[in-house]
Amino acid sequence: MSFTMLKLLLLLWVFNYSETIPIHAAGKKGGSVILPCEFKAREIFHIRLNRQPTSFEGEIFVYDKKYCSKRVCKKGACDVVIKDLRLSDAGKYILNVYYNNAESLLAPQVRSYQLHIYDDISVKIGEVLKLDVLLPDALQVMHQNTSSAEWKMVWKRGSKSRVNIKQDRLKDSNGSLSIKRFMAEDAGTYRVLGYEGEILITVTVTVTEEKSKSPTESKGNLNYTDDEQKRNHWSLFGPAGLVVLFVLFLILIAAIIKKMQ
Ligand SMILES: *[C@@H]1O[C@H](CO)[C@@H](O)[C@H](O)[C@H]1NC(C)=O
Ligand SMILES: *[C@@H]1O[C@H](CO)[C@@H](O)[C@H](O)[C@H]1NC(C)=O
Ligand SMILES: *[C@@H]1O[C@H](CO)[C@@H](O)[C@H](O)[C@H]1NC(C)=O
Repeated sequence: MSFTMLKLLLLLWVFNYSETIPIHAAGKKGGSVILPCEFKAREIFHIRLNRQPTSFEGEIFVYDKKYCSKRVCKKGACDVVIKDLRLSDAGKYILNVYYNNAESLLAPQVRSYQLHIYDDISVKIGEVLKLDVLLPDALQVMHQNTSSAEWKMVWKRGSKSRVNIKQDRLKDSNGSLSIKRFMAEDAGTYRVLGYEGEILITVTVTVTEEKSKSPTESKGNLNYTDDEQKRNHWSLFGPAGLVVLFVLFLILIAAIIKKMQ
């Protein structure tokens, strides 16, 4: 076993969570986010990313730059990029950066992050609004409607009496919060807070206008093989047709000029 390997194992063994001030990071669902490390050591030989609490998910494997088709990758010296963000990515992360340092071999640089995920969705009146936001570390869900700056609690863990929304329309199951028979006043912003009041998720909900299906719209639903074939046809014969027209045009001009002489 090489010395570096031994050192690495030793470091992993003494690994502990130091309390650091979390760096706030935010990303849109489906988008990506960078957890900045901002640490320049000559030789960083390993980084470890964990969720907190650790029981939650354990270590998240951070792929090297070369394999960045993966969802979680290293960027630069020790930044971490998370792509294709999900609402469930919201929460606290700890990054340990192990590097060669003559003074203190055993102390990794520790970074902690608070990741906030946001999303925009639209719902039709009367339909069910389903929010997959009740993460294990979610304590409460607040709602702000479109006509007021006030936040009202709509859900709280362990609380049977729903503080606000029309109790019969609100349901929580399987990590989702559902609001039945969606009404215009349910639109606005839903914010999921953790146990320390930190923002985990923000979902902005707008009302979709019910559109009557116009003939052009229903046409869009048809297979576009027909259209495609037509386009191919034109792209095949279009340029040739143009050349023929142009030649005919030249002949016509020549004829006119000849006649004028
Ligand atoms: C909860 O989720 C699990 C797995 O995602 C699924 O099998 C189950 O049917 C869900 N239950 C409800 C009540 O939606
Ligand atoms: C919006 O919220 C405020 C206070 O929370 C409330 O007084 C008002 O009636 C609400 N408006 C609508 C349209 O629901
Ligand atoms: C559209 O095309 C797919 C396969 O390309 C076919 O399965 C489907 O039935 C078609 N739909 C219509 C409305 O023609």
